[in-house]
Amino acid sequence: MSRVTVRDFATVAIYIIASGAVVALALSGRTDWAIAALGILGGLVGIVTRLQFASRRAPFREQVATSRAVSNAARQAQSATTKLAKQLAATRREIATDISAARDEFTTELSTTRRELADVVQAVADEVAGVRSEAAEAEGPRQQLAKEISAVREGVATVRTAVAGVERLERRLAPELVTDIQALIQLMSRYAPTAPLPLVAGWAMSPAGLVFLTDSIERRGAEFVVECGSGTSTLWMAMAMRRKGTGKVLALEHLEEYADKTRAVLAAHGVSEWAEVRVCPLVEVSTPRGDFLWYDLELESLPGQIDILLVDGPPGTTGRHARYPALPHLSQVLAENSLIVVDDADRRDEREVLELWAEEWPAFERRASASRGIEVLERVDSPYGVENRSSQN
Ligand SMILES: C[S@@+](CC[C@H](N)C(=O)[O-])C[C@H]1O[C@@H](n2cnc3c(N)ncnc32)[C@H](O)[C@@H]1O
Repeated sequence: MSRVTVRDFATVAIYIIASGAVVALALSGRTDWAIAALGILGGLVGIVTRLQFASRRAPFREQVATSRAVSNAARQAQSATTKLAKQLAATRREIATDISAARDEFTTELSTTRRELADVVQAVADEVAGVRSEAAEAEGPRQQLAKEISAVREGVATVRTAVAGVERLERRLAPELVTDIQALIQLMSRYAPTAPLPLVAGWAMSPAGLVFLTDSIERRGAEFVVECGSGTSTLWMAMAMRRKGTGKVLALEHLEEYADKTRAVLAAHGVSEWAEVRVCPLVEVSTPRGDFLWYDLELESLPGQIDILLVDGPPGTTGRHARYPALPHLSQVLAENSLIVVDDADRRDEREVLELWAEEWPAFERRASASRGIEVLERVDSPYGVENRSSQN
């Protein structure tokens, strides 16, 4: 509402006074004057009103202009807002479309990848199942193979142990082998055999033992040698006798078969006259330690005292201490300073026999061993002859 000014009050006062004058003129009967005054009053009112209107019109116009400007601005703002809203909506739609398209593409790719991954997982699972199945099928053969591998390993360990044993034996036997080779060369060069030779291995005396025997025969001038158990040794001793020019070997053999073989060898080498192979079956003989199976030999049948006695029989298979009777039975016919050569002295049975003899026959002393497996005893001269302690007890 517009403010009432002083000018407005003045204008109203004039109107009241003029109206009063008109009324007064009219009441006073001066109607002409009253009408004239009324006309003037009307004119005044029109002028004042016009002036007032004119004075108040400018701010109104400003307000209207401002209002219009505001209205325009509002419209523009609304238009801009609407436009912006439209753009925003369009952008939203575009973004939504893009997002939707991207989501669709991503979803499609994801689903494709999932399918591919599922295929790969399935393939791997199939592979694993196949491998497991093969492993399960191979379990039996695998266990069998493991057993076989274990058996082979054990076999290899056994072979290694055996090889180590053989190597040890080789190291131990190598010097012996060289000694035997040397001995064989000596025998061959000294006696120059012309016929095939029987083997000097296994059951036969070693070449080193044979060298000792033949050398003893020659150096000692042994005239009579008795051998328990015939064989290759009979041949070499016969050749020693022939080389020496005198003497005889008597080989006691309990088996006809081997007696014949030895005789054949002696004949082949032309030394039959230097050695006799006598078949003496094994019979029970009495000794201070009881009865033993030994050669059936009459001492009276011997041509003289024995210079060398070779104990290489009977075989151990005929009984324990099978060779023990040799000394008790022949002690009376062993010459002074005679030698007893015991083969296979590294065997337990023969070692025990030697210990029994050492206890019972102190007149027979041990001499340095000629070679491995050979033991040598020598009768030492005694004014009382050969003493037998066991017989004295
Ligand atoms: C150790 S052998 C005597 C070997 C003989 N003193 C030598 O050194 O050639 C003892 C007994 O074995 C038997 N014998 C002999 N020759 C044999 C052979 N080739 N194979 C198996 N035994 C044999 C004989 O009965 C012999 O009396």
